[in-house]
Amino acid sequence: MTSAPSQPKSSSPSQEDLKAIIAPVQAELAIVEQWLTTNLIDDNPFVGELLAQVFQSGGKRIRVAIALLGSKASLKEGAELGRLNIIQAVLTELIHTASLVHDDVIDASALRRGKETVNKRFNDRLAVLLGDLLFAQASICLARIMNPVVVGIYGQVLGDLCAGEIGQMRSQFVYDVNWERYINKSIAKTASLFAAGSHAGAILNAASNESVQALKDYGVNLGLCFQIVDDLLDVTGSSSELGKEPGSDLRAGVVTAPALFVLERDDEPAKRLRELIKTRQIVNDEGAEEGLKIIRENGGVEATVALATRYAELAKDSLSVIAPSDARDSLVALIDYVLVRTK
Ligand code: FPP
Ligand code: MG
Repeated sequence: MTSAPSQPKSSSPSQEDLKAIIAPVQAELAIVEQWLTTNLIDDNPFVGELLAQVFQSGGKRIRVAIALLGSKASLKEGAELGRLNIIQAVLTELIHTASLVHDDVIDASALRRGKETVNKRFNDRLAVLLGDLLFAQASICLARIMNPVVVGIYGQVLGDLCAGEIGQMRSQFVYDVNWERYINKSIAKTASLFAAGSHAGAILNAASNESVQALKDYGVNLGLCFQIVDDLLDVTGSSSELGKEPGSDLRAGVVTAPALFVLERDDEPAKRLRELIKTRQIVNDEGAEEGLKIIRENGGVEATVALATRYAELAKDSLSVIAPSDARDSLVALIDYVLVRTK
Protein backbone atom coordinates (compact mmCIF):
# COMPACT_ATOMS: atom_id res chain seq x y z
CA MET A 1 0.00 0.00 0.00
CA THR A 2 1.35 3.41 -0.96
CA SER A 3 2.07 5.64 2.02
CA ALA A 4 -0.26 8.61 2.33
CA PRO A 5 1.30 11.76 0.88
CA SER A 6 0.61 15.03 2.64
CA GLN A 7 -2.33 16.54 0.84
CA PRO A 8 -1.32 19.60 -1.19
CA LYS A 9 -3.32 22.65 -0.19
CA SER A 10 -4.92 24.45 -3.09
CA SER A 11 -4.08 28.12 -3.11
CA SER A 12 -5.90 30.90 -4.90
CA PRO A 13 -3.81 33.00 -7.23
CA SER A 14 -3.80 36.58 -5.98
CA GLN A 15 -5.86 39.41 -7.44
CA GLU A 16 -2.58 41.32 -7.74
CA ASP A 17 -1.20 38.62 -10.07
CA LEU A 18 -4.28 38.91 -12.27
CA LYS A 19 -4.06 42.73 -12.29
CA ALA A 20 -0.50 42.57 -13.56
CA ILE A 21 -1.44 39.99 -16.21
CA ILE A 22 -4.30 42.03 -17.63
CA ALA A 23 -2.40 45.35 -17.56
CA PRO A 24 -1.78 45.41 -21.37
CA VAL A 25 -5.56 45.25 -22.01
CA GLN A 26 -6.79 47.09 -18.91
CA ALA A 27 -8.65 49.82 -20.82
CA GLU A 28 -10.41 47.37 -23.15
CA LEU A 29 -11.30 45.11 -20.25
CA ALA A 30 -13.08 48.02 -18.58
CA ILE A 31 -15.16 48.53 -21.74
CA VAL A 32 -16.07 44.82 -21.81
CA GLU A 33 -17.02 45.01 -18.13
CA GLN A 34 -19.23 48.04 -18.78
CA TRP A 35 -20.89 46.18 -21.66
CA LEU A 36 -21.61 43.12 -19.54
CA THR A 37 -22.85 44.94 -16.49
CA THR A 38 -24.82 47.82 -18.00
CA ASN A 39 -25.33 47.54 -21.76
CA LEU A 40 -27.24 44.25 -22.11
CA ILE A 41 -31.01 44.19 -22.75
CA ASP A 42 -32.59 45.18 -19.47
CA ASP A 43 -35.73 47.09 -20.34
CA ASN A 44 -37.39 44.61 -18.02
CA PRO A 45 -36.03 45.51 -14.54
CA PHE A 46 -36.36 41.92 -13.33
CA VAL A 47 -34.23 40.67 -16.23
CA GLY A 48 -31.76 43.43 -15.39
CA GLU A 49 -31.59 42.15 -11.82
CA LEU A 50 -30.93 38.60 -13.03
CA LEU A 51 -28.20 39.79 -15.39
CA ALA A 52 -26.60 41.74 -12.56
CA GLN A 53 -26.66 38.59 -10.42
CA VAL A 54 -24.79 36.51 -12.99
CA PHE A 55 -22.29 39.15 -14.12
CA GLN A 56 -21.49 40.65 -10.72
CA SER A 57 -20.86 37.37 -8.97
CA GLY A 58 -17.08 37.53 -8.73
CA GLY A 59 -16.16 35.85 -12.03
CA LYS A 60 -12.50 36.47 -12.89
CA ARG A 61 -13.12 37.15 -16.61
CA ILE A 62 -10.28 34.80 -17.57
CA ARG A 63 -11.86 34.19 -21.00
CA VAL A 64 -12.18 37.94 -21.57
CA ALA A 65 -8.49 38.36 -20.73
CA ILE A 66 -7.56 35.50 -23.10
CA ALA A 67 -9.62 37.02 -25.93
CA LEU A 68 -8.21 40.54 -25.52
CA LEU A 69 -4.62 39.37 -24.98
CA GLY A 70 -4.83 36.93 -27.92
CA SER A 71 -6.16 39.73 -30.12
CA LYS A 72 -3.47 42.14 -28.94
CA ALA A 73 -0.67 39.61 -29.38
CA SER A 74 -1.75 39.15 -33.02
CA LEU A 75 -1.77 42.86 -33.96
CA LYS A 76 0.70 44.28 -36.43
CA GLU A 77 3.21 46.66 -34.87
CA GLY A 78 1.66 49.99 -33.94
CA ALA A 79 -1.94 48.75 -34.41
CA GLU A 80 -4.50 49.02 -31.61
CA LEU A 81 -7.34 46.78 -30.47
CA GLY A 82 -10.60 47.74 -32.18
CA ARG A 83 -14.36 47.51 -31.69
CA LEU A 84 -14.56 44.00 -33.14
CA ASN A 85 -11.95 42.73 -30.68
CA ILE A 86 -14.03 44.10 -27.80
CA ILE A 87 -17.21 42.51 -29.14
CA GLN A 88 -15.45 39.15 -29.54
CA ALA A 89 -14.36 39.30 -25.89
CA VAL A 90 -17.92 40.15 -24.78
CA LEU A 91 -19.26 37.32 -26.93
CA THR A 92 -16.89 34.82 -25.32
CA GLU A 93 -17.95 35.79 -21.79
CA LEU A 94 -21.65 35.75 -22.72
CA ILE A 95 -21.40 32.17 -23.98
CA HIS A 96 -19.41 31.13 -20.91
CA THR A 97 -21.91 32.69 -18.50
CA ALA A 98 -24.90 31.24 -20.37
CA SER A 99 -23.37 27.77 -20.25
CA LEU A 100 -22.80 28.05 -16.49
CA VAL A 101 -26.40 29.13 -15.87
CA HIS A 102 -27.54 26.05 -17.82
CA ASP A 103 -24.91 23.84 -16.18
CA ASP A 104 -26.23 24.72 -12.73
CA VAL A 105 -29.67 23.50 -13.84
CA ILE A 106 -28.20 20.26 -15.19
CA ASP A 107 -26.14 19.71 -12.01
CA ALA A 108 -28.96 20.95 -9.73
CA SER A 109 -26.31 23.17 -8.10
CA ALA A 110 -27.38 25.49 -5.31
CA LEU A 111 -24.13 27.47 -5.15
CA ARG A 112 -21.76 29.04 -7.64
CA ARG A 113 -18.81 31.14 -6.49
CA GLY A 114 -20.30 30.95 -3.02
CA LYS A 115 -23.59 32.54 -4.10
CA GLU A 116 -27.03 31.11 -4.71
CA THR A 117 -27.54 30.00 -8.32
CA VAL A 118 -30.44 31.34 -10.40
CA ASN A 119 -32.08 27.89 -10.40
CA LYS A 120 -31.90 27.73 -6.60
CA ARG A 121 -32.99 31.32 -6.00
CA PHE A 122 -35.89 31.07 -8.48
CA ASN A 123 -36.37 27.87 -10.47
CA ASP A 124 -35.02 25.79 -13.37
CA ARG A 125 -37.38 27.24 -15.97
CA LEU A 126 -36.25 30.77 -15.26
CA ALA A 127 -32.58 29.75 -15.32
CA VAL A 128 -33.00 28.02 -18.70
CA LEU A 129 -34.63 31.14 -20.12
CA LEU A 130 -31.93 33.41 -18.70
CA GLY A 131 -29.25 31.21 -20.29
CA ASP A 132 -31.16 31.39 -23.59
CA LEU A 133 -31.33 35.18 -23.31
CA LEU A 134 -27.55 35.30 -22.92
CA PHE A 135 -27.09 33.06 -25.96
CA ALA A 136 -29.38 35.45 -27.87
CA GLN A 137 -27.12 38.32 -26.85
CA ALA A 138 -24.14 36.33 -28.06
CA SER A 139 -25.75 35.89 -31.47
CA ILE A 140 -26.29 39.66 -31.70
CA CYS A 141 -22.55 40.08 -31.06
CA LEU A 142 -21.80 37.60 -33.84
CA ALA A 143 -24.03 39.56 -36.21
CA ARG A 144 -22.14 42.75 -35.31
CA ILE A 145 -18.80 41.08 -35.99
CA MET A 146 -20.03 40.10 -39.49
CA ASN A 147 -17.35 37.51 -40.15
CA PRO A 148 -18.58 34.10 -41.36
CA VAL A 149 -15.42 32.29 -40.19
CA VAL A 150 -15.90 33.62 -36.66
CA VAL A 151 -19.62 32.74 -36.78
CA GLY A 152 -18.58 29.18 -37.72
CA ILE A 153 -16.04 28.99 -34.89
CA TYR A 154 -18.54 30.04 -32.22
CA GLY A 155 -21.32 27.90 -33.75
CA GLN A 156 -18.97 24.93 -33.40
CA VAL A 157 -18.25 25.93 -29.78
CA LEU A 158 -21.97 25.94 -28.92
CA GLY A 159 -22.28 22.45 -30.39
CA ASP A 160 -19.13 21.31 -28.55
CA LEU A 161 -20.41 22.62 -25.20
CA CYS A 162 -23.65 20.67 -25.60
CA ALA A 163 -21.88 17.54 -26.89
CA GLY A 164 -19.38 17.73 -24.00
CA GLU A 165 -22.21 17.89 -21.45
CA ILE A 166 -24.09 15.05 -23.16
CA GLY A 167 -20.87 12.98 -23.21
CA GLN A 168 -20.38 13.64 -19.49
CA MET A 169 -23.98 12.65 -18.74
CA ARG A 170 -23.64 9.45 -20.75
CA SER A 171 -20.49 8.43 -18.87
CA GLN A 172 -21.79 9.02 -15.33
CA PHE A 173 -20.81 6.13 -13.07
CA VAL A 174 -18.66 4.65 -15.87
CA TYR A 175 -15.42 3.56 -14.20
CA ASP A 176 -13.53 1.94 -17.05
CA VAL A 177 -10.47 4.02 -17.85
CA ASN A 178 -10.69 5.81 -21.17
CA TRP A 179 -8.35 8.82 -21.29
CA GLU A 180 -9.34 9.69 -24.83
CA ARG A 181 -12.97 10.07 -23.74
CA TYR A 182 -11.94 12.24 -20.77
CA ILE A 183 -9.71 14.52 -22.86
CA ASN A 184 -12.27 14.82 -25.68
CA LYS A 185 -15.00 15.69 -23.21
CA SER A 186 -12.73 18.31 -21.58
CA ILE A 187 -11.91 19.83 -24.97
CA ALA A 188 -15.61 19.99 -25.82
CA LYS A 189 -16.89 21.43 -22.55
CA THR A 190 -14.02 23.82 -21.77
CA ALA A 191 -11.07 24.03 -24.16
CA SER A 192 -13.14 24.75 -27.28
CA LEU A 193 -14.38 28.06 -25.84
CA PHE A 194 -10.88 28.95 -24.59
CA ALA A 195 -9.57 28.28 -28.13
CA ALA A 196 -12.31 30.33 -29.82
CA GLY A 197 -11.51 33.16 -27.39
CA SER A 198 -7.77 33.00 -27.96
CA HIS A 199 -7.70 32.88 -31.79
CA ALA A 200 -10.87 34.45 -33.24
CA GLY A 201 -9.45 37.94 -32.61
CA ALA A 202 -6.36 37.05 -34.64
CA ILE A 203 -8.67 36.17 -37.56
CA LEU A 204 -10.44 39.52 -37.20
CA ASN A 205 -7.03 41.24 -37.15
CA ALA A 206 -6.04 39.43 -40.38
CA ALA A 207 -3.02 37.87 -38.64
CA SER A 208 -0.94 35.20 -40.42
CA ASN A 209 -2.26 31.63 -40.53
CA GLU A 210 0.70 30.62 -38.38
CA SER A 211 -0.25 33.09 -35.61
CA VAL A 212 -3.93 32.12 -35.79
CA GLN A 213 -3.02 28.44 -35.43
CA ALA A 214 -0.56 29.15 -32.59
CA LEU A 215 -3.17 31.09 -30.62
CA LYS A 216 -5.73 28.36 -31.22
CA ASP A 217 -3.31 25.68 -29.94
CA TYR A 218 -2.59 27.90 -26.93
CA GLY A 219 -6.33 28.08 -26.13
CA VAL A 220 -6.88 24.34 -26.46
CA ASN A 221 -3.90 23.49 -24.21
CA LEU A 222 -4.66 26.18 -21.63
CA GLY A 223 -8.33 25.12 -21.62
CA LEU A 224 -7.35 21.52 -20.97
CA CYS A 225 -4.97 22.60 -18.22
CA PHE A 226 -7.77 24.72 -16.69
CA GLN A 227 -10.31 21.87 -16.75
CA ILE A 228 -7.82 19.37 -15.28
CA VAL A 229 -7.00 21.85 -12.48
CA ASP A 230 -10.73 22.33 -11.91
CA ASP A 231 -11.18 18.56 -11.64
CA LEU A 232 -8.25 18.43 -9.23
CA LEU A 233 -9.68 21.16 -7.00
CA ASP A 234 -12.86 19.14 -6.63
CA VAL A 235 -10.65 16.64 -4.78
CA THR A 236 -8.23 18.96 -2.94
CA GLY A 237 -10.23 22.15 -2.37
CA SER A 238 -12.31 23.21 0.60
CA SER A 239 -15.85 24.50 0.32
CA SER A 240 -14.70 28.06 1.14
CA GLU A 241 -12.08 27.97 -1.64
CA LEU A 242 -14.40 26.39 -4.19
CA GLY A 243 -17.61 28.25 -3.40
CA LYS A 244 -19.33 24.85 -3.54
CA GLU A 245 -18.95 21.47 -1.82
CA PRO A 246 -15.77 19.49 -2.70
CA GLY A 247 -16.31 16.00 -4.10
CA SER A 248 -19.29 17.14 -6.14
CA ASP A 249 -17.98 15.41 -9.29
CA LEU A 250 -17.66 12.05 -7.53
CA ARG A 251 -21.06 12.40 -5.89
CA ALA A 252 -22.54 12.92 -9.36
CA GLY A 253 -20.69 9.88 -10.71
CA VAL A 254 -18.48 12.10 -12.89
CA VAL A 255 -15.12 10.32 -13.10
CA THR A 256 -12.30 12.80 -13.79
CA ALA A 257 -8.47 12.69 -13.97
CA PRO A 258 -7.70 12.27 -10.22
CA ALA A 259 -10.01 9.22 -10.03
CA LEU A 260 -8.89 7.84 -13.42
CA PHE A 261 -5.27 7.74 -12.25
CA VAL A 262 -6.31 5.47 -9.37
CA LEU A 263 -8.81 3.42 -11.39
CA GLU A 264 -6.20 2.49 -14.00
CA ARG A 265 -4.26 0.55 -11.37
CA ASP A 266 -4.82 -3.05 -10.48
CA ASP A 267 -4.65 -2.94 -6.68
CA GLU A 268 -6.94 -2.87 -3.66
CA PRO A 269 -7.55 0.91 -3.56
CA ALA A 270 -8.50 0.84 -7.27
CA LYS A 271 -10.85 -2.11 -6.70
CA ARG A 272 -12.50 -0.35 -3.77
CA LEU A 273 -12.96 2.88 -5.75
CA ARG A 274 -14.52 0.90 -8.62
CA GLU A 275 -16.84 -0.76 -6.12
CA LEU A 276 -17.92 2.57 -4.63
CA ILE A 277 -18.78 3.87 -8.10
CA LYS A 278 -20.40 0.66 -9.34
CA THR A 279 -22.66 0.33 -6.30
CA ARG A 280 -23.35 4.08 -6.33
CA GLN A 281 -22.25 4.37 -2.71
CA ILE A 282 -20.18 7.28 -4.07
CA VAL A 283 -23.29 9.50 -4.13
CA ASN A 284 -23.59 9.41 -0.33
CA ASP A 285 -21.49 11.51 2.08
CA GLU A 286 -19.74 8.46 3.47
CA GLY A 287 -18.99 6.91 0.06
CA ALA A 288 -17.81 10.23 -1.40
CA GLU A 289 -15.51 10.83 1.59
CA GLU A 290 -14.03 7.36 1.21
CA GLY A 291 -13.59 7.87 -2.56
CA LEU A 292 -11.83 11.22 -2.00
CA LYS A 293 -9.58 9.66 0.63
CA ILE A 294 -8.60 6.82 -1.72
CA ILE A 295 -7.75 9.28 -4.49
CA ARG A 296 -5.75 11.56 -2.16
CA GLU A 297 -3.81 8.71 -0.58
CA ASN A 298 -2.98 6.84 -3.77
CA GLY A 299 -1.26 9.36 -5.98
CA GLY A 300 -4.35 10.69 -7.80
CA VAL A 301 -3.51 14.27 -6.84
CA GLU A 302 0.18 14.23 -7.80
CA ALA A 303 -0.48 12.50 -11.13
CA THR A 304 -3.19 15.06 -11.95
CA VAL A 305 -0.86 17.96 -11.14
CA ALA A 306 1.68 16.40 -13.53
CA LEU A 307 -0.96 16.07 -16.27
CA ALA A 308 -2.07 19.71 -15.87
CA THR A 309 1.59 20.80 -15.95
CA ARG A 310 2.09 18.94 -19.23
CA TYR A 311 -0.74 20.88 -20.89
CA ALA A 312 0.59 24.11 -19.36
CA GLU A 313 3.94 23.42 -21.05
CA LEU A 314 2.21 22.67 -24.36
CA ALA A 315 0.34 25.99 -24.05
CA LYS A 316 3.67 27.79 -23.51
CA ASP A 317 5.24 26.01 -26.50
CA SER A 318 2.31 27.03 -28.69
CA LEU A 319 3.24 30.69 -28.22
CA SER A 320 6.79 30.28 -29.51
CA VAL A 321 5.92 31.62 -32.99
CA ILE A 322 4.11 34.71 -31.64
CA ALA A 323 6.23 37.88 -31.76
CA PRO A 324 7.40 39.10 -28.33
CA SER A 325 5.13 41.74 -26.75
CA ASP A 326 3.55 42.64 -23.41
CA ALA A 327 0.41 40.79 -24.50
CA ARG A 328 2.38 37.64 -25.30
CA ASP A 329 4.13 37.83 -21.89
CA SER A 330 0.70 38.09 -20.27
CA LEU A 331 -0.56 35.03 -22.14
CA VAL A 332 2.42 33.14 -20.71
CA ALA A 333 1.77 34.51 -17.21
CA LEU A 334 -1.87 33.46 -17.48
CA ILE A 335 -0.75 29.84 -17.81
CA ASP A 336 1.06 30.05 -14.46
CA TYR A 337 -1.97 31.79 -12.98
CA VAL A 338 -4.14 28.79 -13.92
CA LEU A 339 -1.55 26.29 -12.71
CA VAL A 340 -0.83 27.98 -9.37
CA ARG A 341 -4.22 26.80 -8.12
CA THR A 342 -2.71 23.31 -7.87
CA LYS A 343 -0.14 24.42 -5.30
C1 FPP B 1 -19.04 23.63 -16.05
O1 FPP B 1 -18.56 22.36 -15.82
C2 FPP B 1 -19.78 23.64 -17.36
C3 FPP B 1 -19.25 23.80 -18.59
C4 FPP B 1 -17.81 24.04 -18.75
C5 FPP B 1 -20.06 23.77 -19.84
C6 FPP B 1 -21.55 23.54 -19.66
C7 FPP B 1 -22.26 23.51 -20.97
C8 FPP B 1 -23.59 23.36 -21.10
C9 FPP B 1 -24.50 23.21 -19.94
C10 FPP B 1 -24.21 23.36 -22.46
C11 FPP B 1 -24.50 24.77 -22.84
C12 FPP B 1 -25.71 24.92 -23.63
C13 FPP B 1 -25.76 25.50 -24.88
C14 FPP B 1 -27.09 25.73 -25.52
C15 FPP B 1 -24.53 25.90 -25.62
P1 FPP B 1 -18.50 21.66 -14.38
O2 FPP B 1 -19.89 21.25 -14.00
O3 FPP B 1 -17.48 20.61 -14.47
O4 FPP B 1 -17.91 22.79 -13.49
P2 FPP B 1 -18.54 23.63 -12.32
O5 FPP B 1 -17.92 23.06 -11.13
O6 FPP B 1 -18.10 25.05 -12.60
O7 FPP B 1 -20.02 23.48 -12.36
MG1 MG C 1 -21.35 22.08 -12.80
